Amino acid sequence: MANDKVSIHGSWASRWVFILAATGSAVGLGNIWKFPYMTGVYGGGAFVMMYLVCIALVGMPIMLAETLIGRRGRQSPVNSLKSLALDSGASPRWSWAALMGMVGALLILSFYSVVAGWSLDYIVGMGRGQFNGISAENAGASFGGLIGDPWRLTLWHTLFMVLTGFVIARGVVAGLERSLRVMMPLLFVLLLILLGYSFTTGHFMEGFHFLFSFQPEKVLDGVLAAMGHAFFTLSVGVGSIMVYGSYMPKKASIGATVLTVGILDTLVALTAGLALFPIVFAGGMEPGAGPGLMFITLPVAFGNIAFGQVMGTVFFILVMVAAWTSSISMLEPAVAYLVERTGRSRTLITSILALLCWLVGMGTVFSFNIWSEAKFFVFAVDGFHLFQWGAEGGKNFFDSIDYLTSRILLPLGGLSFVLFAGWVLGRDAVREELAFRSPVLFSLVYWLMRVVAPIGVLVVFVAELTK
Ligand code: PFF
Repeated sequence: MANDKVSIHGSWASRWVFILAATGSAVGLGNIWKFPYMTGVYGGGAFVMMYLVCIALVGMPIMLAETLIGRRGRQSPVNSLKSLALDSGASPRWSWAALMGMVGALLILSFYSVVAGWSLDYIVGMGRGQFNGISAENAGASFGGLIGDPWRLTLWHTLFMVLTGFVIARGVVAGLERSLRVMMPLLFVLLLILLGYSFTTGHFMEGFHFLFSFQPEKVLDGVLAAMGHAFFTLSVGVGSIMVYGSYMPKKASIGATVLTVGILDTLVALTAGLALFPIVFAGGMEPGAGPGLMFITLPVAFGNIAFGQVMGTVFFILVMVAAWTSSISMLEPAVAYLVERTGRSRTLITSILALLCWLVGMGTVFSFNIWSEAKFFVFAVDGFHLFQWGAEGGKNFFDSIDYLTSRILLPLGGLSFVLFAGWVLGRDAVREELAFRSPVLFSLVYWLMRVVAPIGVLVVFVAELTK
C-alpha cells in the first residue's frame, strides 16, 4: 500500500516539525511586505475580508490536497504524483503539474532572493542609524540608491542565496528541521515585540480600524488580488507544501495540522498589519504607498519615533528570517527530485540549482537599473512583442517573472493538485489519509476539494487573464 512508503530524504521528528516547516514556508515576504501593502492599496477591511474567504475556501483545500498527496507518495512532488497516478490507473503525465510547479518555485526564488536581499541592506542601514530623523524624500532617494546599484544588489542577493543553499544542502533533518526549530520561535518573538511596540505608539486603534473597518463598496476592487495572494501566502501550487508533507510522520493528523498552518499564516499577516499600520500612522505617513510601504514608508516612520532605530532593526531581521524559511521551501522540491532522479549528492545538486536561481535572479537585479528598459510582453499599436528594448508598456524582467509565477503557474499548479486529490486519487485513499472521525466533516472537505476550490481558481484565473 502506498501509505507504507518512507521518504529516502528523511522524516520530521513529529507533526510539530511539519507545522514549523509549513508555517515557515507560508510566512514570508507575502505576509510582512505584500499583505500590509496590498491592504493599504485596496482599502483596508474589504480586502482583508476577501482574503480570508479565499484562504478558507480555496487556499486551505489546496494545501490539504498537497499535503496528503505528498504524505501518500513519500517522494518529491514529481515522483509522488507519478507513482500515485500509476497506482490509481491514471496517466503518469499528472506529474507534469509538479514539474511545472517545481520550475515555478525556482523562478519565485530567483526574485525572492533579491527582495530579501534588500532587507539585509536595511538591517545594516537601520542598525547604523542611517534613517534617524529621515524625511520621506530622502528615504525614497535612499531606496532608489539601493535598487539603482547593481553591485550592492548583487552582493545581498548572493549572500541570501548562499544562506538558502546552506540549509538545504545539510538535509531534511540536520538542515531544515534544525534551523526551523530556532528560526520559527525567533520569528514569533520578534513579531510580538513589534506588536507590543506598536501599542505604545498611541496610534494602535487607528491601525486597527484601518485593517478591520469594512467598506462594502470596496469588496470587488481587491477580489482578484486577494485570490492571487491567498496562493502566494500559503505557498500552494508549487509543490513546496507537498514535499514537506512527504516528510510527515504517518500517524500525524493532516486535517488539524494543515488547519494550524493556515491559521498561523493568517494570524501572522494580520499581526504584521496590526503592528505596522500604527507605526505608519505614528510616523505621519500614508498607508497606500504600495510596494514602497516596507522600504520607504516604514523606515521614515521608524526614523521619526522613539526607539525607532532598535525597533526598525528588529523589524528587518524579522523580515529576513521569514524570507529565509520561505526560500528554503522553494528549493527543496527540485533538490528532492534531482536527488531521486540522479542519485547524486544533495550538496552538489543544491549548489547547481542555487547557482541557476542566482543567475536568473541577476535578471531581476538588472531590471531595476541597467536593464530597466528591457520590456517583455509588450502590447503596442503595431501588435504584440515578446521583447522590445525601451517600449512604453510591457513588463520588466522582475515584473514578468512575478506575473508568470503568481498569476499563471501557481493557480495552474494549485488547480492540478486539487483536481488530482479530488478526482483521481479516489475517495478511499483520501479518506484514509485524512482519517477524519466525522463523516460529515469528511464529505464537506472532500466537496471543497472537488468542486469549490477548482471552480474558485478557474473563475479567478480566467478573470485575471481577460482583465
Ligand atoms: N508563502 C511565501 C510568502 O508568503 O512570502 C511565498 C512562497 C513560499 C511562495 C514558497 C511559494 C513557495 F513555494
